[in-house]
Amino acid sequence: METTEKMPAQKSSKKQSKSEVAQGLRDLFVDELKDIYWAEKALTQAIPKMIDKATDEELVEALTKHLQETREHVSRLEEVFSSIGEKAEAKECKAMVGLIKEAEEIMNSTEEGMVRDAGIISAAQKVEHYEIATYGTLYAFANTLGEEDAADMLEETLEEEKAADETLSGIAESSINVAAAGVDGEDAD
Ligand SMILES: [Fe+2]
Ligand SMILES: [Fe+2]
Repeated sequence: METTEKMPAQKSSKKQSKSEVAQGLRDLFVDELKDIYWAEKALTQAIPKMIDKATDEELVEALTKHLQETREHVSRLEEVFSSIGEKAEAKECKAMVGLIKEAEEIMNSTEEGMVRDAGIISAAQKVEHYEIATYGTLYAFANTLGEEDAADMLEETLEEEKAADETLSGIAESSINVAAAGVDGEDAD
């Protein structure tokens, strides 16, 4: 009775009904929310370590401000979950595990001061870029799925991640990279 029965397996497997696509997209949306929820929680533990190891005043200030925002990102995600009728659940984000590990390695392999600060900025910006990519995708998914409240909240966080990234770029350009390059001539012995 159905023409799809005669279709080659490859073709029919590609053809999903609209509702299947919608459900698949929604599952992916929820799954990615769990991933970033885990990542944000992990960052509330990781950023204080970066603050501890940083020396540049502006950097400490920027990280401290973003730690507060990150805590808000955790609770905002809980609101996103509830707005779509899902339970807030965290699922280990392997990318964030790696990014945090890399940040720790940089902090352990550099001496306190400008070079370590430059390393902290680099590690923090990689984290921000991951978050920007994730929230950009989640925002698009929420819009496609007609989850307007979730989309608004995700966009708010996306903008804060972008602002944090720009602040870090500004600090790197204005002070740390220049100063770190300047210590070239200071050989001890
Ligand atoms: Fe965040
Ligand atoms: Fe962030």
